[in-house]
Amino acid sequence: MWTKKALHNLIEEKLQNHQLIVVANREPYIHRFAGDQVECIKPASGMTTALDPILQACGGTWVAHGSGNADRHSVDTKNQVRVPPENPSYTLRRVWLTKKQEQGYYYGLANEGLWPLCHVAFTRPTFNPADWEIYREVNQLFAKAVLEDANDKPAFVFIQDYHFALLPRMLKMANPNLIVAQFWHIPWPNREIMRVFPWGEEMLDGLLGNDLLGFHLRHHCQNFLDTVDRAIEAKVDQENSQITCGGKLTVVRPFPISIDYDAHVELAQTAKVENEMARWRLRIGLKDKLLGIGIERLDYTKGIPERLRAIDYFLEHNAEYRERLVFVQIAVPSRAHIPQYQRLDEEVDRITEQINWKWSTDDWRPILLLKEHHNQIEMIALHRLANFCIVSSLHDGMNLVAKEHVASRCDEDGVLILSQFTGTARELTDALLVNPYSMEAMADAIRLALELPESERCKRMQKMRAAVANNNIYRWAGKVFSALVRFDFPEDV
Ligand code: G6P
Repeated sequence: MWTKKALHNLIEEKLQNHQLIVVANREPYIHRFAGDQVECIKPASGMTTALDPILQACGGTWVAHGSGNADRHSVDTKNQVRVPPENPSYTLRRVWLTKKQEQGYYYGLANEGLWPLCHVAFTRPTFNPADWEIYREVNQLFAKAVLEDANDKPAFVFIQDYHFALLPRMLKMANPNLIVAQFWHIPWPNREIMRVFPWGEEMLDGLLGNDLLGFHLRHHCQNFLDTVDRAIEAKVDQENSQITCGGKLTVVRPFPISIDYDAHVELAQTAKVENEMARWRLRIGLKDKLLGIGIERLDYTKGIPERLRAIDYFLEHNAEYRERLVFVQIAVPSRAHIPQYQRLDEEVDRITEQINWKWSTDDWRPILLLKEHHNQIEMIALHRLANFCIVSSLHDGMNLVAKEHVASRCDEDGVLILSQFTGTARELTDALLVNPYSMEAMADAIRLALELPESERCKRMQKMRAAVANNNIYRWAGKVFSALVRFDFPEDV
């Protein structure tokens, strides 16, 4: 089993005098004002949830956009702050962006361009040349921060995600001695889709600055190799999954990401979670009702309207469950300045209102929609209370909420209804796998989830828990770092 300690030892031994610098747009800890106090919150992001324990285990620096309104207030003169606040173990270095930069790079190019392009969720991407300019400028800004931090000493730079496609090349040009890897946390679509991106050559050239480029699935690696093969002058070695461009080698590998399973399980068993469960019971008015849950950012890739319509269809066709089932949907506001997100927000409100109007009685309302941020304890408590959890993404690189659900269920009960279009579906084959576009299939899965015998629920949950326990976040990081320094991966650490 991979543990925090095993990863720590591996890093000590193999990375030796190299410092670790992680770059990600989203910071793992956000400081914001709450009245005249400053509070520190963790954002709703699978990426930060996954990376934070690794940095806690290995130390190093995380370079990110300082997005909280009290962020400047909380750093030293080098724009740094030690985190996590309760047990400082690594450095968070904040990069400041102007509103115009945030608009062009984050909202514009990354989230109106690349995000809808990479997710096949039928939301049309838009590409604005001015945004591409700003995206380049912001990548340059991050390159400057990383180079300053590395200070000409040996360093591993581990870049996260689609916000930084140009950064690897910039870093390598400035300092060829840096070892640079990147993990693309979202899908890489097939080359037909990628073809429409107007600055494809420049983006691919940027990515080929990496020594190692990781995706969740082999299928995404294959799509990347095919895209490069078609778009630019490069030698694509399909057999060894690597590319040589301008004499430089980039190795492309799948690394299915995960969560800190042990820490999650430990937390799920605490009195804090049990107290929170009692609070939820009151808030939901649970009593003898059955509970279904959905937890995610309010994002059009997550299939929230599809899921709500499936609940409506389920109630229509399963009269015996009316007045018995409550579905709690947590939808954390996200990227709210983008019109598609605003439209989704209105749509989710409208559908919820329609369903509740159609079915509710004096003492029952089928859907409780909570558009607010919740902390980890509150979310684990909800996972533990649920009869089933629905993850109905239309397309998702991995999806860590599904893994969190499984890890929260220390009672080995509960049922996961999981979209077959998530990366997680390849590992959690004991979930009830569904096509989220099929209302009937979703409604059938809800019924099955409520009617599976306890022994069957337990058998499936045990298998899924074993899968997540085994392929935990430390194993993921161990594999990435091992591939990076090209030493043999010790399978049984
Ligand atoms: C996905 C992306 C992450 C991102 C997260 C939350 O998981 O892969 O890079 O951090 O969504 O989105 P946000 O835009 O709020 O950072």
